[in-house]
Amino acid sequence: MKKTKITVLNKNLNYSLFVGYNSIRLLPREIKLINTKSNKIGVVLDKKIPKKYKNKIKKLLKNYKVFFFEYSVSENLKSFSNVNNLLEKCIRLNFNRNDFLIAVGGGIVGDFCGFVASILKRGVNFINIPTTLLAQVDSAVGGKTGVNSKHGKNLIGSYYQPNLVICDLSFLNSLPKRQVTNGYAEILKHAIISDKNFFNWLQKNSHKILKNKDVKCLAYAITKSNKIKLSFANKDVRDKNIRMTLNYGHTFAHAIEARYSYSKKINHGEAVLIGMMMAAKLSFIKKVCSKATLLELIKIYKKNNLDYKLKSFLKKKEFNSITKFMIQDKKNDDSKINLILLKKIGKTTRPGQYKLALSELRKNNKKLNNLNF
Ligand SMILES: NC(=O)c1ccc[n+]([C@@H]2O[C@H](COP(=O)([O-])OP(=O)(O)OC[C@H]3O[C@@H](n4cnc5c(N)ncnc54)[C@H](O)[C@@H]3O)[C@@H](O)[C@H]2O)c1
Repeated sequence: MKKTKITVLNKNLNYSLFVGYNSIRLLPREIKLINTKSNKIGVVLDKKIPKKYKNKIKKLLKNYKVFFFEYSVSENLKSFSNVNNLLEKCIRLNFNRNDFLIAVGGGIVGDFCGFVASILKRGVNFINIPTTLLAQVDSAVGGKTGVNSKHGKNLIGSYYQPNLVICDLSFLNSLPKRQVTNGYAEILKHAIISDKNFFNWLQKNSHKILKNKDVKCLAYAITKSNKIKLSFANKDVRDKNIRMTLNYGHTFAHAIEARYSYSKKINHGEAVLIGMMMAAKLSFIKKVCSKATLLELIKIYKKNNLDYKLKSFLKKKEFNSITKFMIQDKKNDDSKINLILLKKIGKTTRPGQYKLALSELRKNNKKLNNLNF
């Protein structure tokens, strides 16, 4: 299959992103293009990745001293003590700034490894090889790295851009179905916030992505998603304004996840799917979008059997319990909740344009959840 190359070029950014089946084979050639003096490579690997990839990577990097750091992955990996541990190991092995750290795993491994790369000797080369659909369409680009604090998720971190991203579709073969839906939610979000044509394409092709079988469709959706994410993230790397549009549906989603204490009952993508629909319903109630827009959105959910009702997860009288988490959203810069609402498919309100007080949101909550679509 043909590989696609995106060159990420901006004021301070210049790196390549490859999308394709078996595109990992490009690794040695691309490493040479980034740094000819490199000698050591640390590979931070998710233990769930099938063994054959470890052997493949060993073979591809036979001209380097390669060290594998393998982890059983959960949010607990994103901790300061694990960061410290890996830093000490790399320092003992005498890694220098010509050397590389490579993340091979989902968003957790990418965030963790990217953060270590950003502070090891004030920054070593960093390559991201995302292995989940979510990481391939979202977390591997944009430069956010970090770990969790006991006070909350992703509260410690840095902005550090990768030198290279390789989205190899062959990794997706072993991905469980729920993880595919997790990534699909972000693909759909990218279409909803900025590209009606892509949304129309998804109306026809989502089932192929969700079945995780059609390599051509997956490659198209991954490439498109990265282009859309980068079009926001590169204009506002530090997330002060337009980049917050990427958070569409996430104010509700994060609150739902927090309400469930980030348990397995609902994963991020499932919460985002519900969150995006709640944001669309609120947009309709507030007359920001039309009923036709809302129905168009519902159509794609129904066609693909995607759950979009909070009622499936919470009893009606519990609905207000998620609002207290929304007040803690990172987009808020005063006592109100800063929401991204939907104007029409492909267009949202601007960050900061639409704010609601908690009391107002609670008033709307009843309407929101009684809306029978
Ligand atoms: N930096 C960013 O911009 C950004 C954006 C979105 C999310 N994130 C972060 O990403 C993380 C979530 O990422 P994720 O959804 O990829 O989760 P993840 O890294 O936990 O991976 C999900 C599960 O899939 C397994 N897995 C990974 N690759 C596999 C493969 N090829 N085959 C089989 N199993 C595989 C993992 O072991 C894990 O059990 C969160 O910590 C979130 O905060 C970061």
